[in-house]
Amino acid sequence: MHVIGGTASTALAERISRELGNAPFGIPFTKRFPDGEMYVRVGGRLEGEDVVLVQSTRTDQDLLELLLLEDAVRESGARRTAVVVPYFGYARQDRRFFPGEPVSARTLSRHIELDADAVITVDLHSPQTLQHFSKPAFEASGIPAIARLLRERPVDLLVSPDRGGIERVRRMAQLLEKPWAALIKKRIDSEHVELSLPSDLPMPLEGKHVVLIDDVITTGGTIVEAAKLLGKNGVGAVSAACTHGLFLRDAFERIKAVTDEIYSTDTLGNPAEKASVAPDIAQLLPRALPA
Ligand code: R5P
Repeated sequence: MHVIGGTASTALAERISRELGNAPFGIPFTKRFPDGEMYVRVGGRLEGEDVVLVQSTRTDQDLLELLLLEDAVRESGARRTAVVVPYFGYARQDRRFFPGEPVSARTLSRHIELDADAVITVDLHSPQTLQHFSKPAFEASGIPAIARLLRERPVDLLVSPDRGGIERVRRMAQLLEKPWAALIKKRIDSEHVELSLPSDLPMPLEGKHVVLIDDVITTGGTIVEAAKLLGKNGVGAVSAACTHGLFLRDAFERIKAVTDEIYSTDTLGNPAEKASVAPDIAQLLPRALPA
């Protein structure tokens, strides 16, 4: 099995190759033509091989690179390709909210699976996106990776910043055998939210080590407000953990100012990338490309 890491996911791809017992690992050559078009070339002897191609699609450029790499891998004679999209861009538009809109998650799924034998992704915005694939598609979770990290840290209470994250925080709570709670969130606009404490907190907050658990941090608005609310209520320390750390603009600095630690997985490169989903992705590969 060969592992190839696109420019958006080189480090994670290398970690996956290590998880597979140091499977041959390659980084494609990429450049731009003078007219701005993208060029990619994969190396290595891929003929008759199974290939794991890893590329998050945070930007349109990442997506285009992935599509070109898939074709390049097939052209190189690979037997089968498992396409790993650790952060699946456009997943938020998972339905038509207004007339005239596309279902972006569906069209991306269709195009990404075109030259793939199986697709693996991590913590999709909504699990229904998996149904858009006609090939075998799997979703890994970022929760075990964060749990492996938090096991070494003091944690009294796990908190989801909204009730939509209850399943996630509950799963983390099960793995760490800790209590959990979910805040009540009211979204004002795409960058502003209002948060309040629930009436059923499992313990008083004073002096406690609280970890906020979210799937994605984008503008940081949610985590900043959640950390401020917990701070006002006397917690001893507050950390923020997420699977996908986008940290747009100054989000990282704003969160750093109100928290003690920030943890993210490596589905995207960022300064908080402390937990790896490589073992969780490697674990799915035998199902994605069965012997
Ligand atoms: C919302 O449902 C998500 O779980 C995240 O809480 C949200 O997308 C984070 O966005 P932001 O960082 O922009 O507040």
